[in-house]
Amino acid sequence: MKRFNIEIDTNIVKNPNCDRCVRSELRHTDKDDLCKKIKSVVDKLPVRCVGDWANDKIYYLLQYFQIFTKGMAKKWGKLRYVEVCSGPGRCSTRDGNEQDGTALAIVKNDLFDLLSDAIFIDYSPRVVETLSKRFEAVGKSARAHALVGDYNDSSSIIKALKEYSPNALTLCFIDPTDCSVPFDTIRDIFNVTQGKCDLLISFFDGLDFHRNSVNATLNPSYTRLQKKYARFLGTPDFFTRKEIVEAALANKYSDLSQMFRQHYADKLNALGLSYQDWKPIKNFYHLLYASSNSRGLDFWKKATKYDPIGQAELNLEL
Ligand SMILES: C[S@@+](CC[C@H](N)C(=O)[O-])C[C@H]1O[C@@H](n2cnc3c(N)ncnc32)[C@H](O)[C@@H]1O
Repeated sequence: MKRFNIEIDTNIVKNPNCDRCVRSELRHTDKDDLCKKIKSVVDKLPVRCVGDWANDKIYYLLQYFQIFTKGMAKKWGKLRYVEVCSGPGRCSTRDGNEQDGTALAIVKNDLFDLLSDAIFIDYSPRVVETLSKRFEAVGKSARAHALVGDYNDSSSIIKALKEYSPNALTLCFIDPTDCSVPFDTIRDIFNVTQGKCDLLISFFDGLDFHRNSVNATLNPSYTRLQKKYARFLGTPDFFTRKEIVEAALANKYSDLSQMFRQHYADKLNALGLSYQDWKPIKNFYHLLYASSNSRGLDFWKKATKYDPIGQAELNLEL
């Protein structure tokens, strides 16, 4: 079987000091999820504690990144990569190993030099400082900018987008841990690029919305979560809609998740991002791809045709 597959080297090495804390209560993490006990054996800098399922995300992102850069560099001229929620660039994977995270994997990729700029945003100054040091160490800090910014207030992200290669065709990866990035931020990012932006979003329906959906709709003590999801969708009245309340009263969790995804898809569609795909990552979340260009979606389909172990993916539509 012919596979479209680009080898992805995330520099996996053993970290003998890692306690392999699979259970969350045993972890030595600080408020930024950096391990307080160990440092990277590669560069002595902090590592983020993650599950090994992060690899699927890196694999699909890098596959797409390479097809996008190769396919568009000559055609478009300037290309730019943006990552919101960049992390520190290296992770320990709770199995005694450590490896590059998405930000460092992108910057170390051979095709990184086809970009005119890359912007990496995280709200933790310590995470940003660590990532900056890693960019310096690989000699890429002239074009790889690690910056402090908060997705709850798009102004710092927008400022960076106006400063670095503002007219470039942009690939923007948004990688939070739950459904808390306000839709207003997505809209502001898309608008400041004047629509020249393809989005890849870690959409945490499985680990976040799905299990809370009934309570968020019906239980007054879940008001805080309800507000978070409404802000995420950019739709204040989502939870008072008749079909949502009826599904919650009938405990139809899957229907609620499906309507949640569909609503988000419709909102992106209204912005002009009508070429979309939802790639499930285990039962945890989806990688949501959205572009205003059919070519972008063709690239994404090509990039995700095979899963990380080389099996052809089933086409599970939304
Ligand atoms: C899932 S991790 C990112 C992992 C990274 N993309 C990778 O795969 O290697 C999420 C990151 O989001 C950052 N973060 C959390 N809340 C944020 C906010 N409001 N604005 C920007 N970044 C935030 C955290 O500090 C953390 O580094």
